[in-house]
Amino acid sequence: MTHEIAVIPGDGIGREVTPAAVDVLEALEIDFEFVEADAGDAVREETGEALPQETYDLAASADATLFGAAGDTAADVILPLRTAVDSFVNVRPAKAYPGIDAVRPETDLVFLRENTEGVYAGHEDRLTQDVSTLTRVVTESASERLAEFACEYVDGDDHDGFSIVHKANVMRETDGLFRDTVTSVADEHGVETDQVLMDAFATRVCLDPEQFDVVVCPNLAGDVLSDLAAGLVGGLGLLPSANVGPDRALFEPVHGTAPDIAGQGIANPAATIVSAAMLLEYLGYDEESAAVHEAVEATLENGPRTPDLGGDASTADVTAAIIDRL
Ligand code: NAI
Ligand code: MG
Repeated sequence: MTHEIAVIPGDGIGREVTPAAVDVLEALEIDFEFVEADAGDAVREETGEALPQETYDLAASADATLFGAAGDTAADVILPLRTAVDSFVNVRPAKAYPGIDAVRPETDLVFLRENTEGVYAGHEDRLTQDVSTLTRVVTESASERLAEFACEYVDGDDHDGFSIVHKANVMRETDGLFRDTVTSVADEHGVETDQVLMDAFATRVCLDPEQFDVVVCPNLAGDVLSDLAAGLVGGLGLLPSANVGPDRALFEPVHGTAPDIAGQGIANPAATIVSAAMLLEYLGYDEESAAVHEAVEATLENGPRTPDLGGDASTADVTAAIIDRL
């Protein structure tokens, strides 16, 4: 069966790392049909719209989407794209690779971030010159859906349950509902959980990341803490992510358009290529996915490497080395 893969490179280094990941997928000779579409600053300049309807529709109907990054229009692009795939969870592995100079080389975490609500639900107001407000939305149904996913996630792999990160001591109603709902779903499934306040988590993960494995958290906490974890493993060029919905999913690097290096051909393609490996696993190509993971790991360990990792190789050199190792 042919799978349709939407490819949305976006802006900046998104236009460099997304084609690199497509090259890797093409090298596997799977029956994929790639359909490319525009989104981001450049298309807004041309048409007035950062996310053209046809791009939204493509993501909403393709089996999976590979997205690069958008610049100033990031929020106008990625938030609706996550809605297009009805994504309720953002899966963000943060793992240190052998041979990479990481602050905490023992880090091996997966964040399961709530992807639809919290402070990103968008209810923000400017009431007066002096006062602005933001309504934080947490629902039992979204917390339940995330928790069900988390239980399945830890069951399918080699994990002993998960940590619930929240701030229910202060945000009693919203994070209280989140904590209680996730805990009770886990209890029903016989999955072990522990609870960590999000500020304490930030310190503890820096000091000793090995205490944690799978981390389930609300939207903003997951956004911030996964970038913090990126710092522990050697930078944003390494972190992949998956926005998973009930019937489709969107895969993207955690990083943005990197305007400081865009156009130079030196962006690290690893985060996007590992995102493509997650796409393969999602579509059931487990062996191919494992092969891509291994090829990326071997390349990170033995080189060539891009300048963010201390090397002097180009995006194309690294991509070719990964394809050679497949
Ligand atoms: P960024 O992730 O683009 O860059 C942060 C730093 O990490 C820069 O020094 C950059 O050179 C480096 N970096 C990131 N990815 C890299 C890679 N693959 N290889 C080598 N170095 C890499 O974040 P920043 O600078 O905060 O944002 C730049 C633009 O990206 C902004 O316009 C922002 O809105 C957008 N953005 C978009 C996102 C998305 O589309 N999902 C996510 C984050 C930011
Ligand atoms: Mg972020």
